[in-house]
Amino acid sequence: MNLLLIGAFDEAERDEWATALRAAMPGHRLCLARGEVDDAEIHAAIVANPPPGSLDELPGLRLIQSLWAGVDRLLADATLPPGVPIARMVDPAMNEAMAETALWATLALHRGFFGYARQQHAGEWRQQPQRRADEVPVLVLGLGQMGRAVARRLVQQGYPVSAWRRAVGDGGADLGAEAPAGVTVHRGAAALPGALAQAQVLINLLPLTPDTRGLIDATLLAQLPRGAGLVNLARGAHLIDADLLAALASGQIGQAVLDVFAHEPLAADHPYWQHPRVVLLPHVAALTDARSASAVVARNVEALARGLPLANLVARDAGY
Ligand code: NAP
Ligand code: GLV
Repeated sequence: MNLLLIGAFDEAERDEWATALRAAMPGHRLCLARGEVDDAEIHAAIVANPPPGSLDELPGLRLIQSLWAGVDRLLADATLPPGVPIARMVDPAMNEAMAETALWATLALHRGFFGYARQQHAGEWRQQPQRRADEVPVLVLGLGQMGRAVARRLVQQGYPVSAWRRAVGDGGADLGAEAPAGVTVHRGAAALPGALAQAQVLINLLPLTPDTRGLIDATLLAQLPRGAGLVNLARGAHLIDADLLAALASGQIGQAVLDVFAHEPLAADHPYWQHPRVVLLPHVAALTDARSASAVVARNVEALARGLPLANLVARDAGY
């Protein structure tokens, strides 16, 4: 089969991906640009947030395989061919990376390590009360690939963990997946305020869809206990930045850990950069690893070639 690799890569990234994908799929031809073979002969597109219109007029296309886990930017392309299945990246190595980031943030919030970093900066020697993990309830928004890995890791670490997902029967690509042992599950909008009221740490791992865009706003933040920590590892557009800044100023939110932003890279003059109660990362909570991800892509391409069911398909209507 002929495969087209296309995305918002620099040359070095594209070459790294091309090498890894070719090694994983020696029996298939990987094109790095349109025109290398006839457009009608491209069977699968392997994409990383390609520019809108990149997949237009490829009549032989039978699979769009994303190298990103989140497909919100891909689905925003109005020219995406309607009938072609879209698969997203689901890689256990990525889920584990996300679990590590969430564990780091939760531990640092729970033990006050971000506050001690501020104290160091101020030359201040002051011991704070020490809490046990079982005294710090964590709520994970989204119980999909990432949310499950995070919840599992936090349960192992002794935190009381609950998670929020869609209502039963609401659809979605991963419906019916089991919650990890020890995790209390809340479903649907009506259950959210009660879940928030219990949470000292809120970790966002929702997909960005029309239902979840802007969900983390003043109303939601006000439902958390005063001084709670917010960890956004999903998408920047889930969060209303002005509402978070106001909640930090009032003390309603004690500390925020932000990996994702509505506009990336974050503008040089954004107030988050210098905010004493914001720790930010440059969208690195869970990077796609070309080595393991290429094997995931190869399995789906092989399934396509053999007419077998494709894995990790996106439910376009649900947006994830
Ligand atoms: P996923 O497997 O698709 O899981 C989505 C979860 O969110 C599911 O549990 C789903 O509920 C729930 N959900 C969806 N819409 C909802 C709604 N309206 N109300 C309540 N729950 C809802 O997604 P994933 O692979 O875990 O990815 C999670 C997020 O991480 C995405 O935003 C992705 O873009 C982001 N991400 C970030 C990085 C990074 O480096 N920062 C890396 C990878 C991914 P059901 O289970 O009931 O369907
Ligand atoms: C990263 O944010 C991804 O969606 O893979």
